[in-house]
Amino acid sequence: MILKNRLGIKSEIELAKEEERISKLKAKKLFESGSLNRLEAGTFESLVVIHKELFEEIYDFAGKIRTVNISKGNFRFAPITYLDDAIKNIEKMPQANFDEVIEKYVEMNVAHPFREGNGRSMRIWLDVMLKKELEKVVDWESIERDDFLLAMERSPIKDTEIKHLLKKALSDEIDNASLFMKGIDASYYYEGYTLYKTEEL
Ligand SMILES: Nc1ncnc2c1ncn2[C@@H]1O[C@H](COP(=O)(O)OP(=O)(O)O)[C@@H](O)[C@H]1O
Ligand SMILES: [Mg+2]
Repeated sequence: MILKNRLGIKSEIELAKEEERISKLKAKKLFESGSLNRLEAGTFESLVVIHKELFEEIYDFAGKIRTVNISKGNFRFAPITYLDDAIKNIEKMPQANFDEVIEKYVEMNVAHPFREGNGRSMRIWLDVMLKKELEKVVDWESIERDDFLLAMERSPIKDTEIKHLLKKALSDEIDNASLFMKGIDASYYYEGYTLYKTEEL
C-alpha cells in the first residue's frame, strides 16, 4: 500500500526514489545552514523540526504525531492513546552522559512518534544530543546495517548492544560535513534507500 503523498505519485518505487532525493537534500541543508546547531538537544520539538524539514514537501504527516498504531517485527510501538504522555516523559529524561543519551534515544524509538521516517529523523536528533552534550557524533558509516537494526530490535528489552555499537562508532569530528553526509547515506541505507549520494545532491 502506497502512502498518500503531496507529490501526486502513485507508484511505490517512484515515491521511494523522490522521498530519498528530496529528504536527503533537506538533510544536507539542515547541516549546511547551521540549523542543526541551533536546535535544543533532546526536546521533542527539535525532532519535530527535523522530521518536518525532511518530509514536509512529501507528506502531510511531516512533523505531526501519528494517529495510527504501528509495529515492526513483533514489536508494537507506543499506542496512540499513550503517545503524548510518553513523549512528555521522554523529554524529562536526563541526557548528561553517553548512557543517558542512548537511553533517551531508545525510549524515543519505542514511542515512534511519526507515521514514517522515525529511524532517519531520530538518528539526526541523536547526533544533535551527542554533539551538544558530549561533543561527539556517530560515524554511521562505520556501523553495519544488520548490526544496527538487530541492536535496535533488542533495545526495548536490553540496551547494552546498541550502547556498545554506538559507543564504538563515536567520532570527535562534529563539524565534518563529509562525515555528516556519508552518515545520512548510511542511515538511509539501513532503511533501504541507496539511490542518491547526499554529497552529490
Ligand atoms: N523490531 C523493532 N523494534 C524496535 N525498533 C525497531 C524495530 N525495527 C526497526 N526499528 C527502529 O525503527 C526504525 C525505522 O522506523 P521508520 O519509522 O520506518 O523510519 P524510516 O522511515 O526512517 O525507515 C529503525 O531505524 C529502527 O531504529
Ligand atoms: Mg520506514
